[in-house]
Amino acid sequence: MDPFQTVAKEMKFLTKNIRQLLGSGHPTLDTVSKYYTQSEGKYVRPMLVLLMSRATALTPKIPRDRSPYSVNRPITSPSILSDENPSAPDAEYPSISSTIHDTSYRNEDSDILPSQRRLAEITELIHTASLLHDDVIDHSISRRSAPSANIEFGNKMAVLAGDFLLGRASVALARLRDPEVTELLATVIANLVEGEFMQLKNTASDERNPAWTENTLTYYLQKTYLKSASLISKSCRAAAILGQCTPEVVEAAYSYGKNLGLAFQLVDDMLDYTVSGEELGKPAGADLELGLATAPLLFAWKDNKSLGKLVGRKFSGDGDVQRAREIVSESTGLEQTRALAQEYVDKAIQSIAFFPESDAKKGLIEMCTKVMKRRK
Ligand code: FPP
Ligand code: MG
Ligand code: MG
Repeated sequence: MDPFQTVAKEMKFLTKNIRQLLGSGHPTLDTVSKYYTQSEGKYVRPMLVLLMSRATALTPKIPRDRSPYSVNRPITSPSILSDENPSAPDAEYPSISSTIHDTSYRNEDSDILPSQRRLAEITELIHTASLLHDDVIDHSISRRSAPSANIEFGNKMAVLAGDFLLGRASVALARLRDPEVTELLATVIANLVEGEFMQLKNTASDERNPAWTENTLTYYLQKTYLKSASLISKSCRAAAILGQCTPEVVEAAYSYGKNLGLAFQLVDDMLDYTVSGEELGKPAGADLELGLATAPLLFAWKDNKSLGKLVGRKFSGDGDVQRAREIVSESTGLEQTRALAQEYVDKAIQSIAFFPESDAKKGLIEMCTKVMKRRK
């Protein structure tokens, strides 16, 4: 059996439900904010949330403490070179009270809770909002094999539509009535911005005299966590929290998402070098053009110090992009990137090894294989 079939019914209603969350009385805003829901996205994040919800449904449950959530806890922002602990122990937080009463939303024969299905939609809204903003920042011309929203409607409307998606995602999140889940997903939004800022700066080293150090890779991986793995890991964690799972299961869900998310972005950065724009559905080779040094180049740089000069000037010199591409293709940078992605994928699978066997667990494992095999 196809392990993804286990969530096929939920996936079928996803786009329709997302479009309902995005309705606006303003016809232009309505059109712009729904623009990326017209094309078929990969829906990686909702699929992971649904699979995680079903896979953890079979694990032991704990009624969660209803003691008031501490409003005095400081809002922490991780220091850029440290890992982060996104949440305090589970027992401090109140349990979920599902507030989704829409009967059409219920699926009585499913062990996925309505709140978990809504969470899946929220993750896609946040992801799509980040793409709307990202395409403005990256001056992108295409996405999902069509003109990107900034090209179709202009920068101002693309940015505002992204903000609108975040607003609607926040409303849907608030309606889940779970402060810990709200905190997790709100932190994701902050993390996306932190990751994007780290990327603007690009490396940990002094730009006037860039040198390869161990910090270069650490900085890149921290940026990658914030930019890509934060949403995947914290939404997997939130799915387990909504399912009233034990702390051990919540941690495992988070670890799975974090490792898969890191692998996902490493592969993304590899595909930017190896696959044509036509196949990707968006411009290929964009990272160097944007001045970005990603994993394949960082590994190549470790062995070929002449890349430092090019990194320092963000590949803006005549022929820099072409030269950097040649050095990367003559190096083992792409192989090393793939090997690192494989290490993360192995860790993701290891994290959920103790989950009871199920089609949903097989689906989570299959997602890892798919990430490594994907070409778009
Ligand atoms: C795609 O990366 C972009 C992201 C994963 C995150 C972008 C985040 C922001 C723009 C921060 C602000 C956003 C929100 C929602 C607050 P990419 O450019 O490497 O990939 P691409 O090739 O798909 O464009
Ligand atoms: Mg981009
Ligand atoms: Mg970008």
